[in-house]
Amino acid sequence: MSKKLRLAAIGAVAAVGLTACGGGGAGSGGGNDTANADPGDLTIGVAMPTQTSERWIADGNNVKSQLEDAGYQVDLQYANDDIPTQSQQIDQMITEGADLLIIAAIDGTALSGQLQAAADANIPVISYDRLIRDSENVDFYVTFDNFAVGQAQATALLTGLGVLDESGNRTDAAGPFNIELFAGSLDDNNAFFFFNGAMDVLQPLIDDGTLVVPSGQTDIEQAATLRWQQETAQSRMETLLTGSYNNGTVLNGVLSPYDGISRGIITALQNAGYGPNLDSTPRALPVVTGQDAEIASVKLIQDGVQSSTIFKDTRNLAEQAVTAAKAFLEGDEPEANDTETYDNGVKVVPSYLLPVQTVFAADIQSVLIDSGYYTQAEVDAGQTD
Ligand code: BGC
Repeated sequence: MSKKLRLAAIGAVAAVGLTACGGGGAGSGGGNDTANADPGDLTIGVAMPTQTSERWIADGNNVKSQLEDAGYQVDLQYANDDIPTQSQQIDQMITEGADLLIIAAIDGTALSGQLQAAADANIPVISYDRLIRDSENVDFYVTFDNFAVGQAQATALLTGLGVLDESGNRTDAAGPFNIELFAGSLDDNNAFFFFNGAMDVLQPLIDDGTLVVPSGQTDIEQAATLRWQQETAQSRMETLLTGSYNNGTVLNGVLSPYDGISRGIITALQNAGYGPNLDSTPRALPVVTGQDAEIASVKLIQDGVQSSTIFKDTRNLAEQAVTAAKAFLEGDEPEANDTETYDNGVKVVPSYLLPVQTVFAADIQSVLIDSGYYTQAEVDAGQTD
């Protein structure tokens, strides 16, 4: 029997055994008697959303390798941003006897059925970076401080515009500065945290006239980008340029929540004749923010095309996921550092939040290269090896 089939058989027997004796709730820890098992006999299902964005590839690789270093078997699956594919992958992990699930959802509201099946089989579920909503069967959440991400993006926008100085103090630049706002995918809980965090910083300046949004599109529903897609953002930016800037109105800044979206925005701007050189280009590229420190965008930042990004060290997130997984499998509860913020609609999910760092061109060396996240050669090439 192959190792996989053997594990599936063990899982099935364990699940039947638990059903028979009633079991405990998922997350009660060690309900499947994983606490006494050899890690090599335990399989962790890792469900990631897509390979079209580097960050999720890095997340998948980091989680897998760190779990394997801890001795566990890993079943890592990517779902190509397709909700039915992800549901089916998780169903299969459960049928094959996974002992724990780590899930970065595509649509945070679409997995209640899978999570119920996991709970019925006593499988703890860790929500990875994106909160799974509308289910009581989410046992733990590892993520970054998502509200702080939004605040940092807005602060970086203001710094790029010269409204704030490097220390974060208000300058005497009075504006008004014209900006446009982009948000992420509305089925991702994080999109709301990023946008609300950003508006927490920007709204007072919109109210006092320092910032103006010429399109008038200031609601998250208007600013949203389904599945965080670059092409969708590019097309919205094209529409904004045609609708609000063809009369010579200057665009000073764009709040973008993710590097892929930023690249879509920048492509639209470049196609419309905006360029990086403030002196010789009639229409200077506006200040554009980002998130994830994707290598293509780090190069754009180095080249002065994109202004900033927010670095979230996925190595540390993977480490937290692995720490939480180990705790559950050893029969303990993982340690949370936030038990108030992340209400998934049914319960407040105990969470571990990691800090984030803003990266401008001057920070690439100290934050991304010195930490070993990228090499200078990768930044120069705009791609990883
Ligand atoms: C993540 C971001 C990422 C976005 C798009 C969000 O859930 O927190 O880091 O940029 O998804 O992939």
